Amino acid sequence: MKKDIAVTVRENVPVAENIYKMTLFSEELPKDIGAGQFLNLSVGDSSHLLRRPLGIMAHTQNTVTVCYQVKGEGTQMLAQKEAGDQLTCLLPLGNGFVLDESAKKVAVIGGGVGIFPLISVLNAYRGQKNFVSYIGFRNLAATCMLDELSACDKLTISTDDGSYGKKGNAVQAFLADYETEMPDEIIACGPPVMLRVLKAELSARKIDTHCLVSLEERMGCGIGACLVCVCKTTDGKNARVCKNGPVFDIREVEL
Ligand SMILES: Cc1cc2nc3c(=O)[nH]c(=O)nc-3n(C[C@H](O)[C@H](O)[C@H](O)COP(=O)(O)OP(=O)(O)OC[C@H]3O[C@@H](n4cnc5c(N)ncnc54)[C@H](O)[C@@H]3O)c2cc1C
Ligand code: FES
Repeated sequence: MKKDIAVTVRENVPVAENIYKMTLFSEELPKDIGAGQFLNLSVGDSSHLLRRPLGIMAHTQNTVTVCYQVKGEGTQMLAQKEAGDQLTCLLPLGNGFVLDESAKKVAVIGGGVGIFPLISVLNAYRGQKNFVSYIGFRNLAATCMLDELSACDKLTISTDDGSYGKKGNAVQAFLADYETEMPDEIIACGPPVMLRVLKAELSARKIDTHCLVSLEERMGCGIGACLVCVCKTTDGKNARVCKNGPVFDIREVEL
C-alpha cells in the first residue's frame, strides 16, 4: 500500500500560457521513481478530496517536479499555491517507460502536457540512447521546457498554427522523418487524438517498430482500487490505466 507523503511546495511558477511548474520537497520521498511514473497530488482543499494525477517530470533525492496545465477547479487551486504551502501526494504510481535495452535510436513523440513525462525519460536515459524528438504545441504561447528538450540529439518542434517551429503536429513531423531516421523504438504521450492518429498511421504504413504510449484517463484513487480509469485492450479485456499503465504497448490498447 502506498503511503501518503506530506510535501512542501518549494516553487510554483508559470512557464507558459496556463502552464505551471511545481517543485515539491520532502525528506521522505521514495527512491524508486521511474521514468514516466506519476503522482497523485492533493489540491489542499477539503472540498476537493480527489487527488490530481500528474506525470513526474524530474526528481532528486528530496524533490519532485511536475508541470501542469490549469484546466478545472483542482488545477486552479494548485496554481495559487506558494512556496511553503503543504500538500500531500502518493508516489510513484503506475508503470512507466522501460525502454528496450537493444534500442539505440528512440523516437519521442509528445504533444501538449504529454511532453512532461517524456522529459523524465530523456533524463533517465541521457547518454544511453540517441533521442530524435518530435514535440507539438498549440502555438508559441504554449511552448515550454525547450531547454530540457534541447538535450535530444535531434529536436523538431511544431505548432498547430506555425507560430513557432514547423506548422503542423508532432505525428506529422515524425512520419515525415521516419524513413530518414528509422528509430528502433517509439515512445509517445499526448492527447488521445494524437495517440489515435499515431496508432492508425503505424498500422496503415505497416511500421512494426516497438511503440510505447502513455495514456491519460480520468482517475479516482490512482492505485487500482476504484476502476474509474479503465481502458479497453485489443484482446477484449479491460485494463486500469493507473495500475497496468499509464504506459502500454500501443498494440495492446484500443485508442
Ligand atoms: C497518468 C496521468 C498523468 C498526467 N500528467 C499530467 C501532466 O504532467 N500535466 C498536466 O497538465 N496534466 C496531466 N494529466 C491530466 C491532469 O490529471 C488533469 O488535467 C487534471 O486532473 C485536471 O484537474 P482539474 O481539477 O483542473 O480539472 P477538472 O475537470 O475540474 O477535474 C475533475 C476531476 O476529473 C479528473 N480529471 C480531469 N481531467 C483529467 C485528465 N485529463 N486526466 C485525468 N484525470 C482528469 C480530475 O483529476 C478530477 O478528479 C495527467 C493525467 C494522468 C491520468
Ligand atoms: S484510478 Fe482507481 S483504479 Fe485507476
